[in-house]
Formats: sequence, structure tokens, C-alpha cells
Amino acid sequence: MSKVIVVIGAQWGDEGKGKIVDLMAERFDVVARYQGGHNAGHSVQVGERSFVLHLIPSGIVHEGKTCVLGNGMVIDPKAFFQEADRLAEQGISVTPARVLISSRAHLILPYHRALDHTSEERLGNERVGTTLRGIGPAYEDKAGRRGIRVADAVVPEVLRSRIERNLEDANRIIEAYGGQALDAAQVFDEMSPLIERLSPFIADTTLFMNRAVREGRSVLIEGAQATLLDVDHGTYPFVTSSCTTAGGACMGTGLAPQRISGVLGIVRTYTTRVGEGPFPTEMLEAEDELGQLIRERGREYGASTGRPRRCGWFDAFATRYAAEINGFDSVALTKLDVLDALDEVKVCVGYRLAGRELESFPAVSKDLRDVEPVYETLPGWKTSTEGVTELDRLPAKARAYVEFISRQIGVPIGIVSTGPERGQTILVRDSALAGWLGD
Ligand code: GDP
Ligand code: IMO
Ligand code: MG
Repeated sequence: MSKVIVVIGAQWGDEGKGKIVDLMAERFDVVARYQGGHNAGHSVQVGERSFVLHLIPSGIVHEGKTCVLGNGMVIDPKAFFQEADRLAEQGISVTPARVLISSRAHLILPYHRALDHTSEERLGNERVGTTLRGIGPAYEDKAGRRGIRVADAVVPEVLRSRIERNLEDANRIIEAYGGQALDAAQVFDEMSPLIERLSPFIADTTLFMNRAVREGRSVLIEGAQATLLDVDHGTYPFVTSSCTTAGGACMGTGLAPQRISGVLGIVRTYTTRVGEGPFPTEMLEAEDELGQLIRERGREYGASTGRPRRCGWFDAFATRYAAEINGFDSVALTKLDVLDALDEVKVCVGYRLAGRELESFPAVSKDLRDVEPVYETLPGWKTSTEGVTELDRLPAKARAYVEFISRQIGVPIGIVSTGPERGQTILVRDSALAGWLGD
């Protein structure tokens, strides 16, 4: 029987999805992305070599794995080739034999980037803090039924006429907010050779994925962004524009729900957020120094934009919500080693609003800004866990912290990560993970 495992970030992104996907990819045949675009930055470290993947699935680092960019993605061809070229310099070849781009995926064009800037400027103090990569505007065009799909773009006349039509509206908005109008002929001339270079990679990935599953090949589906950035379930409007949660994996690959065999949640031992929006457990004011310590120890700077990430305590209340809507069977708990220096570790176990404990994750941003986290404090372990590969080698207090998190979110911990490198990992092998890895 084929196995199809979906890997999902449980928080606001950068939980370490790249590391865990790379680790697991060895036991899978196909690695697929299903949403988002080059707003993602997934880091993989193998010995001295580091890779940052944006559009291409992290499975590319393993020779012989097929990588799929699914129909739910938005693809900037320029960014794709920049990434492919960088990987080639690092000795990894991105060829049509290994990388398939869905004919149904939507394109990000230069005016989407311009609109992303305009939109953020229009919002002023209420801006989202996007990556400015044109992700939101490309998904707006998709939902507005005027997007340009990869398959449309290969026909030059179609590409030209869609660019002309879409730019009329886009330019009106761009110019109204003081931006520079784009020239349709220039956009076409820029895109045309890129699309030509892209054509050997284009495939019916829905057919490919379903055939792979039918033939018993195993598939790892790599989520980007994370649960709390989901356009429906996340902290709207401070979210990305795609469905990042496990349900999106079907939509964005063309696999039916029955094909999914399991869901692995990626959970960091603390929380970060890059960009704007409410963040109940953020370390502010009195805890600012602690936040800085974590930022430095955890190297919490955006893998895509270099922005410093906001840091906060582990939020079990939000992660329980993530576990529920994604249906986590198992969790990979990352960055335990970053907390080694702390005297004590706080965990948010509930939210209180206007004096009352909340039963569910708030839908309204203002409520999320106003909630008061209810904390439990655990002792720190003050011993290095860096690179530990066995559970019983962890200091007792670190192990207690791991077990506490597992109990709080109600999901077994299958992997504990103790460093960025592939081998700096404890495989706990709960029953779900053992099944997936074939142990
Ligand atoms: P992703 O977007 O979820 O793939 O995460 P990023 O790659 O953006 O950010 C995670 C960062 O943490 C990367 O620099 C990883 O190399 C690093 N990392 C992953 N797991 C661990 C870990 O267990 N310990 C430490 N110290 N770093 C880790
Ligand atoms: P990975 O896959 C963290 C955030 C942006 C912004 C919001 C919307 O590496 O975890 P967008 O450009 O998507 O319209 O921005 O989403 N964001 C991420 N934050 N990790 C990411 O990806 C992110 N991708 C987008 O900072 O707040
Ligand atoms: Mg990232």
C-alpha cells in the first residue's frame, strides 16, 4: 500500500519543516509542495552544506527523488530559475526528469509584486508584513478567475493578451498609489523566455501523483507557511493567501482525501512570528532580553527575507487548535537545544479574555491581541542537548518538557530535533512514525 504523509507547520512558520522533510525524504519516492510560493524559506543542513529551498520541495537534496510543484502553488518563473541555478552551483541538478511543475499552477508576474507593495502601503499601520513576493495578488487573480496558469502561458498569444488585459486594472491601482505603471510589452518580453525555459518542467502533476500512489510509490507532501497563517483557519487578516493546513494538501495536489495516510505536525519548542499580527505569547518589555537570547541562539532571522523573527513562549493552546484542524498523528518537536540556556521555561496552556478562560481559538484579531495567556512554568535543564540522538540521553528536565508539550497538545512526539543538521535528531518512533518510516 502506498503511503502519503503530509507535513504541516503548527505555528506561524519556520518550525523546521525543511529539516524534517529532508530527514524523512530518504524513505519516500516523491516529495510535493501544494500551496504557497517563494514566500517559503526551508533550510536543510547536511554536514557542512546548507541549502535554502523556496519553491522547490526540500526532497531535491536527496538524489533520485521526484519533486512536484503542485497545482495549488503560485510560481514566479524567475524565482524558480534563480533557485535552480543556486542549487546547481551547490551540485544539485534541477532537471525536468526530477522536477515537475503543475500545468494548473498559477504564475506570479511582475505586476503581482508591484501590487503586493501597493497593498501594503495602502494598509499603512494595518499592513500584514508580507514577503512582498506577489503571493497575495497572484492568489487574488486566481480566485478572481483572471489568473494566468502555467498551461495558458505556454501559448504566446494567450500570455500576451492576458498580460495586456490584467495590466489595465493592475496599473490603475499601482498608479493611484504613486507606483510606476508597468508596460505590457515589457512584461511579455521578460516572461516569454522564462516560460519557454519552464516548458520542459510542465506536467499534469495530478495524473503523476495519482499514478504514483496507484503504483505504490510513497509520497511526502511538504506544507509551507503554517497553520496560523492559513487563509481560513489562521489569524486573519494577518495570514498568507493559501490554504496551508492539511486539508489543502488534497486541493493543491489533486489527491483524494482517502489517499492521505497520515499527518505529521512540525512544532517548535517556542514560537516565532515574522510579519505583523497578534502574537499572545510574544516576549516583550520585561522579557525582551529573553526574546533576543532566543533569536540569537535559534538564529531566528527569516530564511527568505532576512527579517528578525519575533520570539515568544510555546503556545499549547494555539498548538492544540492546530493539532485538531490538521489531525496530527504525530509531532516533530524542533529546536529543543535552543532552550538549553534558560533557567525556566513557560508554556501557555490557555487564553483568558475579559476574565474568562476561552474554550476555542479566537476568530477576531482584536480578541487575540487582548487575550491574556495562562502560563505554567517548568524548570530549565541548563545542560546542552545539542546533537543528542537518544531520548534517554536527554536531561530529565528537558524530557519532562517534551512530555509536557505532548500531553498538552494531545499528540505523541515522534521526532525531537536537537540541532539543524540532519543527524541531530532523536527518532522516538511512536507507532505512527514507525509505520511511516517502515521500521
Ligand atoms: P521552515 O520554514 O519550517 O523550513 O524553517 P526555516 O528553515 O525557515 O527555519 C528553521 C531554522 O532552524 C533553520 O535555520 C534550521 O536550520 C534551524 N533548525 C531546524 N531544526 C533545528 C533544531 O532542532 N535546532 C536548531 N538549533 N536549529 C534548527
Ligand atoms: P515558511 O514556509 C514565516 C508570513 C509573512 C506575512 C504573511 C503573509 O518558511 O514557514 P505573504 O508574503 O505570504 O503574503 O505574507 O505570512 N509568511 C511567513 N512567515 N514563514 C513562512 O514560510 C512565511 N511565508 C509567509 O511574513 O506575515
Ligand atoms: Mg522558513
